[in-house]
Amino acid sequence: DLSEIGLIGLGTMGAALSLNIAEKGFRISVFNRTVSRVDGFLAEAGPLAERITPTRSLEDFVASLAEPRAIILMVPAGEAVDAQIAALRPLLGPDDLIIDAGNANFHDTNRRAAEAVAQGVPFLGIGVSGGEEGARHGPSIMGGGDRANWDRVSHILEAISAKYEGEPCATWMGEGGAGHFVKTVHNGIEYADMQLIAETYGVLRDGMGLSAAECGEVFGRWNDGPLRSYLVEISARVSAATDPETGSPMLDVILDRAGQKGTGRWTVIESQQVGAPVPVIEAAVAARNLSAALETRRAGQELFGAAPQSLPDGTLSLDDLEAAMIAGKIMCYAQGFDLLARTGAQHGWALPMPEIAEVWREGCIIRSDMLNDMAAALRGEPERNLIFADYFADLVARNHVALRKVVSTGALHGLPMPALSAALSYFDMIRTERSTANMLQAQRDFFGAHGFERIDAAGKHHGPWASGQDRP
Ligand code: 6PG
Repeated sequence: DLSEIGLIGLGTMGAALSLNIAEKGFRISVFNRTVSRVDGFLAEAGPLAERITPTRSLEDFVASLAEPRAIILMVPAGEAVDAQIAALRPLLGPDDLIIDAGNANFHDTNRRAAEAVAQGVPFLGIGVSGGEEGARHGPSIMGGGDRANWDRVSHILEAISAKYEGEPCATWMGEGGAGHFVKTVHNGIEYADMQLIAETYGVLRDGMGLSAAECGEVFGRWNDGPLRSYLVEISARVSAATDPETGSPMLDVILDRAGQKGTGRWTVIESQQVGAPVPVIEAAVAARNLSAALETRRAGQELFGAAPQSLPDGTLSLDDLEAAMIAGKIMCYAQGFDLLARTGAQHGWALPMPEIAEVWREGCIIRSDMLNDMAAALRGEPERNLIFADYFADLVARNHVALRKVVSTGALHGLPMPALSAALSYFDMIRTERSTANMLQAQRDFFGAHGFERIDAAGKHHGPWASGQDRP
């Protein structure tokens, strides 16, 4: 039997996605560059192997697919994708379809989509979130490329996707790299959400002296409240875990040096390109970078001494921390959605704002109860900053005092809180009608005659320094 779909790249994500596709009743052909992996995969597939066609050459793989063919690539982002497309193209025709499901840089996806038009083999770029578990049982899928091509395979992608109250979490976001762009911003938010949790963990551990298990209990309780989310849930679970080797809490034996594959950085770069500030995400990326500078931190502690981080009893309550997290999380998402709203236009996309929040409600790493409320707010006014939507304005009003209390306590006691601090400053800036940028404008005009606007007259003006009249 010919397969309805094919997948190349049987790494962790590709293997899980293939099993998911087979489980949903589709016949699928698989291929892997290291051919021996195909056999290993088939052995893991159990009864699902019945719907899986293993292939050992690209030619056999292509020949095993029903026409028009649809091929998912799950190979490492970057050159491997271009190489795989180049190898496939001569074997495919103008009705076939290549679907890149990796974590591609959306600029690459834009380029590949343009090349696909020139070279005549249609192409889609889809963002897939949810890690291995999501890929296996239902990821969140953010599609990009020609709408007609998406429509050709959407029944398969919807079938394998996560469901939120029965609704598939698989949505077409726009042409070219739109799907990968939305996935990139998803990951930027993911970085920030994780960093916010890590900062409160620091207060619990270093400020309040809680054990890892006790931190886990706190996260567990928060997961029953407004912060209910996958990331808070897994933070409870990792905090509770014990190292089988040493019997110590797992968290206590893990080196504090964070890895990253680049998607958070891409979000920040893009935000700078379009001038849509995402300071909480920037802080999260910077914190990962600083975490990697282990030697520098060691030298810093030696030279300056560690700040005494423990908090006198009663300085902060767990409720303060939870409230600060709520406020911080809202700022972070407000920034992420603001970036999405502002970037779309620049790339000629009409990004479906409420649908983006909806597609993130299940399956993906940042899934949380709050995303349903964000979807509702964006349905009302898709372009408006989330913190101005009634529901979130009210939450911010109720929680920003705690955010200030936590951040100021952190500052006084040497507990670093880059993301929470960024959230607070963003909030304070966004509610300050008279900012301090008048000083910047004066400086710019002084040294570069850049001119400024006045509060009391239209047009472009220069200061008296231009004529030397500022001299005493
Ligand atoms: C997801 C994750 C996934 C992956 C990232 C993590 O949505 O399923 O975001 O794509 O875990 O690559 O990125 P870092 O390695 O940069 O933390």
